[in-house]
Amino acid sequence: MPRIRVKLKQNSYDVIVSAGLLRRAGRELRRVLPSKSSRVFVVTSPTVYHHWGGVLEVSLQQARVPYQIVQMNDGEPAKRLQSVEQLAEQMVDARADRKSLIVAFGGGVIGDSAGFLAAIFMRGVPVVQIPTTYLAQVDASVGGKTGVNLRAGKNLIGAFHQPRAVLVDPEVLDTLEDREFVAGLYEALKCGVIRDAKLFDFMVRNRAKILARDRKALERTIVSSVRVKASVVAADEKESDLRRILNFGHTVGHALEAATGYSQFLHGEAVAWGMIAAAFIAGEVRACRAETVQQIQTAVRAYAALPPVVCGTDDVLERLTVDKKTVGGAIHFVLPERIGRTRISAEVPEEVVRRAVEHIKAHA
Ligand SMILES: NC(=O)c1ccc[n+]([C@@H]2O[C@H](COP(=O)([O-])OP(=O)(O)OC[C@H]3O[C@@H](n4cnc5c(N)ncnc54)[C@H](O)[C@@H]3O)[C@@H](O)[C@H]2O)c1
Ligand SMILES: [Zn+2]
Repeated sequence: MPRIRVKLKQNSYDVIVSAGLLRRAGRELRRVLPSKSSRVFVVTSPTVYHHWGGVLEVSLQQARVPYQIVQMNDGEPAKRLQSVEQLAEQMVDARADRKSLIVAFGGGVIGDSAGFLAAIFMRGVPVVQIPTTYLAQVDASVGGKTGVNLRAGKNLIGAFHQPRAVLVDPEVLDTLEDREFVAGLYEALKCGVIRDAKLFDFMVRNRAKILARDRKALERTIVSSVRVKASVVAADEKESDLRRILNFGHTVGHALEAATGYSQFLHGEAVAWGMIAAAFIAGEVRACRAETVQQIQTAVRAYAALPPVVCGTDDVLERLTVDKKTVGGAIHFVLPERIGRTRISAEVPEEVVRRAVEHIKAHA
């Protein structure tokens, strides 16, 4: 059973990746309960509960773990303080206390919201992540970033709160809609580009298997992606330099999401366009060879047809400069040097960025 250790200065934890793990989740949870009298509060959504709640409940009952289900909606609009407050009220009504453990059982919206709830409920209780979307399995559930959105922007309120454990079962992806599933795959491809050429190769060569959701192939991509994220997070727990490489494709990606009012792209799709743009930029500023640009662009495009980029170039450029990851006016780009290796560059002329945006608009 692949177990990836996320090594931190304090509170290191394991990410376990295994098909069928949800059926053994009760046992795994029992190991990380803060005390014998602890109760588990499973935060989930109606959709996830409908598909997989039964499996989790049976495993909790078999392991004799006392639990309570609390629900919130998922989807980005639900990722708000109000949801967190309502969950906290439900927990208090159900007599949760400091020894309680929260289980975040859902996609990234549930993971971020329930993780944040855990960070602040009674000044902090432990959380275990059981991610149920591909995106959450390879990305959102690992690293300890939690939070919710404000009207002014995404993730503007939050806290670092590392999980006690992350339990990843690729089987739960069976019920995920195709578009959601594929959007998550781009984050894995990203991990390949930034730090793991073998993962990148595997994803290029096994595209059909992955798209058919072959368990073993998925497990392989998830394990490698989590390793990449875990190694970066371990080296750099609280976002600074190294951790920024995880933002490959995200500079333009975030700008596209914002410029289209978060209505045209799923996050992963915007990141896919962002990777194509970043590869283009890398080629222009000669951070890498033309062959690498081609490899990245072809790999991204091969997975699925992306929704076209229909928005003003100026709108995108404007969003780029207000992105919170801008430092001191310069737009920082994570650029590939070759597959598996990136560098951060603050010296990308605006003209080149403009051409990159035109490039993705023209190649939709
Ligand atoms: N904390 C981090 O480091 C981090 C990293 C990346 C993304 N995120 C956050 O993650 C969020 C996006 O996560 P997401 O894409 O998982 O969105 P999501 O949680 O809204 O889930 C997407 C959809 O999939 C459905 N779903 C979830 N699991 C399912 C299953 N097994 N079967 C069928 N349907 C299922 C949900 O009901 C929802 O409609 C964003 O808010 C983003 O900011 C956080
Ligand atoms: Zn992302």
